[in-house]
Amino acid sequence: MLTEHPATGPDRLHGRLPQVVGAGLTVPLVTGRQVPYANLDHAASTPCLAEVGREVARLLPWYASVHRGAGFASQVTTRAYEQARDAVRRFVGAGPDAAVLFTRNTTDALNLLGRALPPRTTVFRFASDHHAALLAWRGSALRRLGVPSGPGHAAELLAGALADAPPGPRLVVLTGASNVTGELWPVAELTEVAAAHGARTVLDAAQLAAHGPLDTTACGVDWVALSGHKMYAPFGAGALVGAADWLAGAEPYLGGGGATAQVTEDEGRESVVWSGLPHRHEAGSPNVLGAHAMAVACQALSAVGWETVTAHERGLAARLREGLARIPGVCRLGMWDAAAPSVGVVSFGVAHWGGRPADQRLVATALSAEYGIGVRDGAFCAHQAVRALLCRDHRHQPGRALRTSIGLGTTTEHIDRLLAALTELVADGPRWTYRETPDGWSPVPDPRPLPDVLTHHGATGDGPLRREEWPS
Ligand code: ALA
Repeated sequence: MLTEHPATGPDRLHGRLPQVVGAGLTVPLVTGRQVPYANLDHAASTPCLAEVGREVARLLPWYASVHRGAGFASQVTTRAYEQARDAVRRFVGAGPDAAVLFTRNTTDALNLLGRALPPRTTVFRFASDHHAALLAWRGSALRRLGVPSGPGHAAELLAGALADAPPGPRLVVLTGASNVTGELWPVAELTEVAAAHGARTVLDAAQLAAHGPLDTTACGVDWVALSGHKMYAPFGAGALVGAADWLAGAEPYLGGGGATAQVTEDEGRESVVWSGLPHRHEAGSPNVLGAHAMAVACQALSAVGWETVTAHERGLAARLREGLARIPGVCRLGMWDAAAPSVGVVSFGVAHWGGRPADQRLVATALSAEYGIGVRDGAFCAHQAVRALLCRDHRHQPGRALRTSIGLGTTTEHIDRLLAALTELVADGPRWTYRETPDGWSPVPDPRPLPDVLTHHGATGDGPLRREEWPS
């Protein structure tokens, strides 16, 4: 029997949580049944909040050029875009002088900052970071810190590396919550260590922003990067928020219209005066719908209150972790003590099923095809973390795991269905047949009908959905 967690019991909090679009989605199984979709992949992308969808639709009739038109609709659209900066600034707890730059996502935001670093900046990153946090700093001197064995060890590693570093500008890259284990990093402690050694900090808040409070002023970070598609606003915007000085002095990340105050000809070449912030780093027509969606999501999440959000997600995550611990051969990935505070991201390996070694990709495919459950498998764009954390009895498939992640639309039924499905799969293996192709595993046959939405732009919609192989 699973322990009843009072916070989630019969989903008591659901009435107080905002609705997500697609909460009633049903998906076909290979057996011909339709079941409610159990989306356990919020760490990759969250669904859209219903309020975000409604507010984006309300802005659409006014949609016109941003910063480029004299017409009334252009003025309205421009105002919506600029107001969105303030909503995001308040959401992350940044001061009035902070720059708010809209980007495509967290990866884009970190790369933008990476292009704005002063010459000879040394960048410190932990090996367990997401690849965006690890790799956005090409051209800078890099210091790689290992995978810490606890929050205190993270502070020790950082202090040691900073003490040994050459003089000059320093940037420490921090993670709010791990996209592999969900563990919350001691951000305030690490920024203190960084500041004591004259280093600045940037926080990758992609996995934190929609799951817990974020107060960049209180925790002392200089910049924060976040993604709309991980905070219920999947319209293609993200943001970089923080200190203006390095950004104001840097060559624009992208050259183009909007980033330029003046372009003249000087001996046959362009002579450019770049705009000031924020336009300097937002060349091209901006994504006003994405920015507006993020702003609405910021307001909606703040209005719900973090206590409600975290009670819901932590209760479900505890139920999930307890259930996984009872399934033979399932090992959960964790960097730190099992009691370390975390968001609802839980990764694990399945060692065997039906008495044979289990292929994690095939387990994920079977969870979808036979149970209507969506999880992610692979190394979650954090290869070093997954490799370091996979448990000993799972070494037969190095570097691949399964990940479940919880959000506002997750219910107790989703968690219980996953646990029941894994229990069956581990005992008996898959019931359907599957074929491995260069694109991954596919059910054979795959009689699942495709939804009409796929035929809208002229595609025939024929043939089963192929499980495409993607970068892991
Ligand atoms: N960074 C996203 C993840 O962890 C895509 O799944």
